[in-house]
Amino acid sequence: MIFPVEKLINAATAARERAYAPYSKFKVGAAILTKEARYYTGCNVENASYGLACCAERVALYKAVSNGERDFEAIAVTADTDDFCAPCGACRQALAEFGTHIKVFMANRQGAYRIQTVAELLPGAFSSQVLTTSDNNGQVEERIVTKLMEPVNR
Ligand code: THU
Repeated sequence: MIFPVEKLINAATAARERAYAPYSKFKVGAAILTKEARYYTGCNVENASYGLACCAERVALYKAVSNGERDFEAIAVTADTDDFCAPCGACRQALAEFGTHIKVFMANRQGAYRIQTVAELLPGAFSSQVLTTSDNNGQVEERIVTKLMEPVNR
């Protein structure tokens, strides 16, 4: 598909301005592109309970999904740094849910970027395939459920 990378990175840069990062002061912006050329932006949103911070990439991804999107082409992420901004492990896994083919444009403050796919960034991603065994038509095995329901003997 034809979509200007600069436009996606500019959208991520604009979203970064809205980052809520009073604790880390590290502002991040992201923009995720659908296969139908729509895009959704996100910024990091922190909390006084530090562990609740949500990364820009996941905000963008979840905004898109909550708008009914499922098919993604690429995501751009940028911070105000000379280094290219790479997504954290949690965001890599969140993106992998929708396809390891997704291209990740990791940009710096100058708008230069490095590109890798989610597959390259997260080899061996956890996948829904392992949630079911191959020979039970997707049903959780009865004996596992039975085992879980056994009373614990102390
Ligand atoms: N952060 C992102 O939003 N995306 C990344 O790729 C890396 C980290 C945020 C989380 C937190 O609000 C701040 O940057 C510092 O870790």
